[in-house]
Amino acid sequence: MRPFLIAPSILSADFARLGDDVKAVLDAGTDVVHFDVMDNHYVPNLTIGPMVCQALRNYGITADIDVHLMVKPVDRIVPDFAKAGASIITFHPEASEHVDRTLQLIKECGCKAGLVFNPATPLHYLDHVMDKLDVILLMSVNPGFGGQSFIPSTLDKLRQVRARIDASGFDIRLEVDGGVKVDNIAEIAAAGADMFVAGSAIFSQPDYKTVVDEMRAELAK
Ligand code: DX5
Ligand code: ZN
Repeated sequence: MRPFLIAPSILSADFARLGDDVKAVLDAGTDVVHFDVMDNHYVPNLTIGPMVCQALRNYGITADIDVHLMVKPVDRIVPDFAKAGASIITFHPEASEHVDRTLQLIKECGCKAGLVFNPATPLHYLDHVMDKLDVILLMSVNPGFGGQSFIPSTLDKLRQVRARIDASGFDIRLEVDGGVKVDNIAEIAAAGADMFVAGSAIFSQPDYKTVVDEMRAELAK
């Protein structure tokens, strides 16, 4: 398995001083900026769009930006995020009429592509597209809000997806999003995840580096 990546969810960052806060969380030793896009339609919350992604690039953020689209429809916002500096774009398959087409669109725009599965979304969406995936993201909460509790059935789902990735031979990251904390990250890694989104666990603490170091220590066990 490749090195573990920690992806702070900026949903829990301070939006009034977002550039500084994103820089601080990267300086604390995190790897990828997880950028949650909510449309008040697919999910019951409203967040940020391509302009904010571009603003982070203009501010000087060079880390990969992992855009998690919780929007419906999906396709028309994809080119805008690619132009705004997204590195990875993931979407929920049930929000797209044509999953294969959306994956191709993301790739044509020059980004890495991934599918996101809600806790109750079946894995059959993987059946014919493994060759087009760079990332599979399993939600361990229902999407829409930070600060929710990790849903334990995700562990078994992670093990299933890890087995599918390994059997496929493709180079696909297995990302988990929701309720990831210092005290459960080791168990989540043991189930097969190699990319960990954490929002409230990091941003709720005064010293981001302490939490990130604790997560790395757990991952090294
Ligand atoms: C939820 C988002 C998550 C969220 C995670 O819909 O996709 O990325 O910010 O927040 P925590 O880590 O607080 O559960
Ligand atoms: Zn997310």
